Amino acid sequence: MRTTAFAAAAVLAAGVNAENYLGFNSGSTLADRSAKFKADFVSEFTTAQKLQGAPGTFNAVRLYTNIQAYSETDPISAFEAAIETNTKILLGVWASGTTSIQNEITALQTAIKTYGTKLTDLIIGVSIGSEDLYRNSATGVANEAGIGANPDVLVGFIKDFRNAFASSAISKIPVGHVDTWDVWPNATNKAVLDAIDFIGVDEYPYYESGKGNNIKNAGSLFDRAYDATVAAANGKPVWVTETGWPTTGPDWDEAHPSVENAKYYWDEVFCRKLLNQTSVFWYNLRDSNPDNKMKFAITNNLSTKPYFDLSCPTTFDTTDSSTSSSASASGTGTVAPVSSATSSSSPSSSGSSSSGSSSSSGSGSSSSPSSGTSSGSGSGSSTGSSTSSSTSTGTAATNTSGASSSAKIGSAALAGIALVAGFFSLL
Ligand SMILES: *[C@@H]1O[C@H](CO)[C@@H](O)[C@H](O)[C@H]1NC(C)=O
Ligand SMILES: *[C@@H]1O[C@H](CO)[C@@H](O)[C@H](O)[C@H]1NC(C)=O
Ligand SMILES: *[C@@H]1O[C@H](CO)[C@@H](O)[C@H](O)[C@H]1NC(C)=O
Ligand SMILES: *[C@@H]1O[C@H](CO)[C@@H](O)[C@H](O)[C@H]1NC(C)=O
Repeated sequence: MRTTAFAAAAVLAAGVNAENYLGFNSGSTLADRSAKFKADFVSEFTTAQKLQGAPGTFNAVRLYTNIQAYSETDPISAFEAAIETNTKILLGVWASGTTSIQNEITALQTAIKTYGTKLTDLIIGVSIGSEDLYRNSATGVANEAGIGANPDVLVGFIKDFRNAFASSAISKIPVGHVDTWDVWPNATNKAVLDAIDFIGVDEYPYYESGKGNNIKNAGSLFDRAYDATVAAANGKPVWVTETGWPTTGPDWDEAHPSVENAKYYWDEVFCRKLLNQTSVFWYNLRDSNPDNKMKFAITNNLSTKPYFDLSCPTTFDTTDSSTSSSASASGTGTVAPVSSATSSSSPSSSGSSSSGSSSSSGSGSSSSPSSGTSSGSGSGSSTGSSTSSSTSTGTAATNTSGASSSAKIGSAALAGIALVAGFFSLL
């Protein structure tokens, strides 16, 4: 049993006596699909820490892979950059499109051997996989979201990771899994929930078509999904591993990208709901998915002066739901996630997909960090944005059992999604 890690993680959940890490997501490639190197990561991490007006210190980063882009098992250069800038790391292990995570393990073992405690002291946790269950779910398949992984496969990888590092300096870090919110109340995924120490949830109200996803509702859409995740979590900590609102790009149902709306989302979601409550990895500091027309970066070209004022207001429009991150599974009072169909895979693609990128590189030797096996197949697809939606209307508290409600996908909305998702899946 990993009681120690679990206890530590449980403290984090309570938001007391523990650090609520703040950071951004960082893929292994740039917008032109070239590999990021140490200097690229140093620039990101430095800007994150110096963001003007930030209501907290963004000195953590979430990675999607341990492997340097276009290499087989070289440690990602983000490690050196994190050491140089004293940046905390939520590790990522790419887990789709492969039957083994051995290359990920090898890269991390090499890094630990090379950097020792300078690296391991910065590691705050690891996610085995990113949105793998979403991509393989009915919604993900309908959205052509790309290749994912099934629960049993993820559980096997989680064990593999724990075994590989059982007697290492990171034996006690919390091991989690990141996925879209509708994945967590789905009973078929329970084995994954049981195998992990914490949940990472990705939430994009922007992509929740069919639910009145205009900016004024974004806070309550966020809450409904977040509270449903917390209710499903059985007391395990829930970290928000991706969320954000685009500043430019096409409208998505009622959602409209703009700097003004991105600021409103920051205020109503980050400031009101998350700051000082749990660890948050905002999406994003810079865009690296060339195929996503929606741009989520909060600043231009890593300028420390963001597009909007990051400082937090003292009053908010969104009415707080009764549940809080510590309230977890209370049963009754919880706001029903009426329509759980959502999902929103990340617009992160390049981030997540070490794979997508590498496969397109043509850099002979390197298979994708992710796969190892068939990078040809889905790898590239790892994602894009997308989402889904559901028919259910806004009123909470109807009947919901996560699984069944997700079946209700608004077909009109889906048509739009499939179009876009199909586009992204070509990555
Ligand atoms: C529930 O999870 C299983 C396993 O991940 C998946 O196959 C199924 O599609 C999910 N159900 C829904 C409605 O998303
Ligand atoms: C969040 O916590 C920090 C200290 O950890 C404190 O300085 C800050 O005022 C808090 N912010 C809010 C909005 O509570
Ligand atoms: C981005 O910023 C870097 C460093 O400040 C600068 O060298 C580069 O020219 C900028 N690129 C663009 C497109 O503005
Ligand atoms: C909830 O859904 C179940 C199964 O779909 C149904 O049997 C039950 O009557 C519903 N409950 C309410 C309150 O609508």
